[in-house]
Amino acid sequence: MPVTRHPASPAIGRVPPVAEFELSAAPASKADAVALFVFSDSVDSIGELAGLSAEIRTSVSAAMKSGDVKGKAGTAQVIGGAIGLRRIILLGLGKRAEFPQDAADLIRWAGAASVKAARELKLQSVIVHPGCLINHDATPTWESLAPRFAEGLVLGGFSFKVYKSGKTTGPDNGAASADRVIKVQLAHVSPGPENEIALTTQLQIATAANYARHLACHPANTVNPATLCDEARKLARQFSLKCTIINAAQAARLGMGGLLAVGMGSRTPPAMILLEYNPSSSGKRQDPIVVVGKAVTFDTGGISIKPAADMGAMKYDKCGGMAVMGIMRAISCIGLNQRVIGIIPTAENSVDAAAYRPGDIIRMYNGKTVDVTNTDAEGRMILADALAYACEKYRPRAVVDMATLTGGVVTALGSVYAGLMSNQDEIAAALVIAGQQTGEWLWRLPLHPRYAKLLESPHADFTNSGGREAHPIQGGMFLNEFVPGEIPWAHLDIAGLAHPRKEHRYLSADNASGFGVRLLVEFLQSLPG
Ligand code: BES
Ligand code: MN
Ligand code: ZN
Repeated sequence: MPVTRHPASPAIGRVPPVAEFELSAAPASKADAVALFVFSDSVDSIGELAGLSAEIRTSVSAAMKSGDVKGKAGTAQVIGGAIGLRRIILLGLGKRAEFPQDAADLIRWAGAASVKAARELKLQSVIVHPGCLINHDATPTWESLAPRFAEGLVLGGFSFKVYKSGKTTGPDNGAASADRVIKVQLAHVSPGPENEIALTTQLQIATAANYARHLACHPANTVNPATLCDEARKLARQFSLKCTIINAAQAARLGMGGLLAVGMGSRTPPAMILLEYNPSSSGKRQDPIVVVGKAVTFDTGGISIKPAADMGAMKYDKCGGMAVMGIMRAISCIGLNQRVIGIIPTAENSVDAAAYRPGDIIRMYNGKTVDVTNTDAEGRMILADALAYACEKYRPRAVVDMATLTGGVVTALGSVYAGLMSNQDEIAAALVIAGQQTGEWLWRLPLHPRYAKLLESPHADFTNSGGREAHPIQGGMFLNEFVPGEIPWAHLDIAGLAHPRKEHRYLSADNASGFGVRLLVEFLQSLPG
């Protein structure tokens, strides 16, 4: 009796747009507010506020002098708004001398702070003026940073209100979308093709990250392996990708024992989603880069059931897979010059008479056997089959997987750095650098043959979990068994980053973060074509 969708749940729908952007060489005259950058320690009201009205210049310098405006990094302070006066939003940059060489993160943060302020004040249009950045002699320039500001604004403006009653009805399937699209004018950025392309690219990537977040936020009674397959087909149609689904019956024929074992206890059978992107330009077909993401649509823990407290957060156990959906959308939009295969093994880890049990011995796609010591170590079971299949079928140049794999990585690194494990220094370094660029920081943990002891089993090739010791590394060591040594591979354990509990700079709390989308797109862009 397959039940694929809860009758009361809406369709997945589209991610609501946040803002519309326009570049202009000089600030235009009409908008609900002007936002401008200020350092915390000084503002030269004459030179740095060029092109703004005398009223604005006076208000800003008065507010700065009075000490009411602190200019702390990441803040957006509102002044003005008295009758006849426009609002002024002061975007803090911190101390002038501490303005970083790589300011992208700070500027994204300002973008997010602006959209939050604009929403609170119900503003429909904002002019963003570089303020203190206009004559700032440090590189990079405001013009080059503007796309990062837009990126932060789109990320900061993400909200998920699909299930809230009584909001205005959006264009899609009655999904609530109360937030208006804000018109943003980026002043002192000349509207030439180069700047337009840079802006559009960054917006497409940020929108794809929000798409991943939108999917991830849907609960498990809407997003399950079957509805996710539908969504992947829809994505492929919309963004010219090739979508192939390996359903449960086919997976059984192929010997994907790990995927099947995990999905067995659910009313919705597991599946392996393959999304293929081929650049239009390339003459001969390159060996691809493969990106794999864990999509456990709900993780009860299975027979090794999790405690009740906070189990609801396990709807986010699909975030790695949702990041892959976002990545595939982004690279198609920007026309990346790399062939990329996205693989999403998806299953619901549930409790049922048919569920796999502790003590079961599972034969995996690559023929190795796994002694299931804990049914809650399910992510590695489905990823292992995906990795082995990917390496055999596509002969990839490199493979990166992303997964909310272990609580241990949350204990170790919290929600600032994600864990990185790899069989090759070069790919690990490239990912770390990409993460610095996008503000998605990675910290490498070791893989060493000595850790293999932890996964030894008396009856099978290895267990899926060897207790608490070095837990994130056990996950990496396990996955490593399913990747041929000559293929550069990296594993990102994103359990602490997928849905940060606290407000995390430009990402709001209690939402999926879309971690990995911008990071992997940056990484893919950095590779030689
Ligand atoms: N999905 C969880 C990991 C997780 C934990 C993600 C907390 C986000 C927040 C994973 O499937 C899991 O259950 N891991 C267990 C494995 C253990 C029981 C062998 C863990 O890390 O505790
Ligand atoms: Mn689990
Ligand atoms: Zn899990």
